[in-house]
Amino acid sequence: MKVLLFADPGIDDSLAIIYALLHPEIELKGIVTGYGNVSVFDATRNASYLLALAGRTDIPVIRGTSQPLSGMHTIFYPEIHGPEGLGPIIPPEDFKADIYPFELMFEIIEKDKEDIIIVDVGRQTTLAFAYNLRPELMEKVKEIYLMGGAFMVPGNVTDIAEANFWGDPIATSVILNKAKKIYITPLNVTNRAIVTRDIAKFIFNHTSSPYKYLIPAVTDYYAAFYDQVMPGIDGSPVHDVFTLYYLMNKEKAYTIKRDVRIAIVDGSRGQSIADLRMIYKEPEHEHYIVMDFDYNDFIADFIRVNLGAD
Ligand code: BDR
Ligand code: CA
Repeated sequence: MKVLLFADPGIDDSLAIIYALLHPEIELKGIVTGYGNVSVFDATRNASYLLALAGRTDIPVIRGTSQPLSGMHTIFYPEIHGPEGLGPIIPPEDFKADIYPFELMFEIIEKDKEDIIIVDVGRQTTLAFAYNLRPELMEKVKEIYLMGGAFMVPGNVTDIAEANFWGDPIATSVILNKAKKIYITPLNVTNRAIVTRDIAKFIFNHTSSPYKYLIPAVTDYYAAFYDQVMPGIDGSPVHDVFTLYYLMNKEKAYTIKRDVRIAIVDGSRGQSIADLRMIYKEPEHEHYIVMDFDYNDFIADFIRVNLGAD
C-alpha cells in the first residue's frame, strides 16, 4: 500500500510514523508535516529525526502549513506532547532536518495517482491547500483517510469538537466537499485504541527495532496526560496509529456511510455532524465513518508490527 502521510508529530503521530515504517505492507512515500500538536518547524524536525533514527532518510519530509486558513491564532500542546513534540525526547541540537520542496508533494501523488492513499492525521490545512492548488490532480486520488471528529460522543479539545477538525474546520470542510472518497476515524473509535504502559514495556523487552527506547518513553509521557483526562486507562489512546491500522484492516471494523459536515462558526466550531438517525437521508458523498472495531485485533497488530514480526 503506497501511503503519503500528513502529520503533526506529536506523540501519537510519531507512533503512526513508526507503525508505517515497520509495517511490511506499507510503502511510505513521504511525510508532509503541519502545525498542530506543535509548530510546523518542530513537527518537521521530529518527522525527520524519526526517519533518521531508522536510517530511512530516503523518505522525503515536506514542510506544510503553519496556521489555519482563517489565519486564526494557533494553540500548541506542549503539556500533552512535550516541549518539542516527542515527549521527553529532544532531538540533538545539531540535528539538521532535510526538507524537500513543497512541489514534491504533487510529484509523489502524480507518480502513483491511481493507487496512492493519503492519510492525514493532523490539522487538514495543507491537504486543503493541495485541493486548492491542484484540483485536477487531487480529484484522481482514490481514497483519503482522516483522523478527526467525534460523532455523538464528547470532543477532546472542546466539549463537542475533536482537535484536528477543530484546528481548521474550513480546511476540513473543503476536503469533505472535494475529496472523492473519505474514511474518517473519529474519537468514537480512536479513544478506545489504547496502548498501555505495560504493552509499551512489553515491546521494549522484545524488540530490537531502532524505536525500542522511544516507544515506552513517549507512551509514559502521553499516559501521564491521559491519567488526568481519562483516569484509569493506564496508557494512552493512539489516535493516529488507529487510522493506519484501519487502512490496513478495514474489513475488521464497523464502518457506516453518511454525509459528514463540520461546524465552522464560534460556539460550535469543529463539531462533526452526520445523520445518525435509524432512518437517515441517503448520503450524497462517499464519506465513511468508523464506528467500532475489535480492540484485541488492534492491539495484537500494534504489537506485531512494532516487534517487526510478520
Ligand atoms: C488528534 O489530535 C492530536 O492531538 C493527535 O495527534 C491526533 O491526531 C486527536 O484528537
Ligand atoms: Ca496528529
